[in-house]
Amino acid sequence: MTLPKTLQQYLLTELKDHPERYELAMLMADIATIGKLISARTNRAGLTDIIGLASSTNVHDETQAKLDIYTNNLCKDYLSNTHLFAALASEEEEKVVDLKNPDGKYVVAFDPLDGSSNIDVNMPVGTIFSVHKKLDTVPAGDEKQFLQPGREQVMAGYVLYGSSTMLVFTWGDGVHIFTLDVDLGEFLLSDAHVKIPDECPYYSFNEAYAPHISKSDLRFLTKIRKHASKQRWAGAFVADFHRNMIKGGIFFYPAVDTSGEQDFKPKLRLNYEAKPMAFLAEQAGGAASNGKIAILDIVPGTLHERTALIIGNKSIVKEAL
Ligand code: AHG
Ligand code: MN
Ligand code: MN
Repeated sequence: MTLPKTLQQYLLTELKDHPERYELAMLMADIATIGKLISARTNRAGLTDIIGLASSTNVHDETQAKLDIYTNNLCKDYLSNTHLFAALASEEEEKVVDLKNPDGKYVVAFDPLDGSSNIDVNMPVGTIFSVHKKLDTVPAGDEKQFLQPGREQVMAGYVLYGSSTMLVFTWGDGVHIFTLDVDLGEFLLSDAHVKIPDECPYYSFNEAYAPHISKSDLRFLTKIRKHASKQRWAGAFVADFHRNMIKGGIFFYPAVDTSGEQDFKPKLRLNYEAKPMAFLAEQAGGAASNGKIAILDIVPGTLHERTALIIGNKSIVKEAL
């Protein structure tokens, strides 16, 4: 019987050629464990008391789902015990969390639960992560640790909790996909060196916002609609990005004016949504920009900064520039 490589086998094989990646391989194993724990929890969403909203709000003034809190605490608790990461940033944490691991050489930013409103209705959700080297010039818990441009990421990826659970990651030599075999409790390699197809049959844009975007974004949207024949919006960036990466497509979330006062505001977060996905997109032969420059070249000004985002098919992203 031929069984695809387990994540563990894959990481150990990579280490033979790249012994310098030892710590990154360990970090990857940590993230895989977190993915398994969250996957187990989300699969039981209808059975355990985790559906619905908590009574709290996060730093963005969004009401937190119970699972937002669970997944955030899990990332914090687990990573402070494994001692590999020095600090953590999260959508659900106002400030950087110093994990009190003085020997940790890396910092990680998470969107612990992406698409969290999907959890109540059995739709896909995800976890996004972005790893940087720890800067020695500032304390571990300093926000500046996370104000590094996306180009400096050493590893990034996501776990998609869909009809199956998939771990998708890059450490700079392509994008690799592992699927969780729930019977074995192992992630198995299902696709290596994934490439975004040149064709672009899909576009992901929340069409309800079309009347509320700027004139130039509307012109670009008109072009996208011409290129792509099918519109899909899962309400979870991870799921929409994944489809577009596998099938060919473009994801567009521009700044939106909800007040009617020409006050256009982007929604997605640079450090733990746009940057990691942009790293994956470029590694898969695609591109990502905010409409002006490549996402990976933006120097973040603040931890929770938001950005407009066009990501996926390279030639369409270029058209937006
Ligand atoms: P999160 O659940 O982490 O706050 O992210 C939700 C994001 C993203 O996943 C999705 O693409 C987008 O919000 C959907 O936004 P709309 O509800 O405005 O369409
Ligand atoms: Mn999100
Ligand atoms: Mn989230």
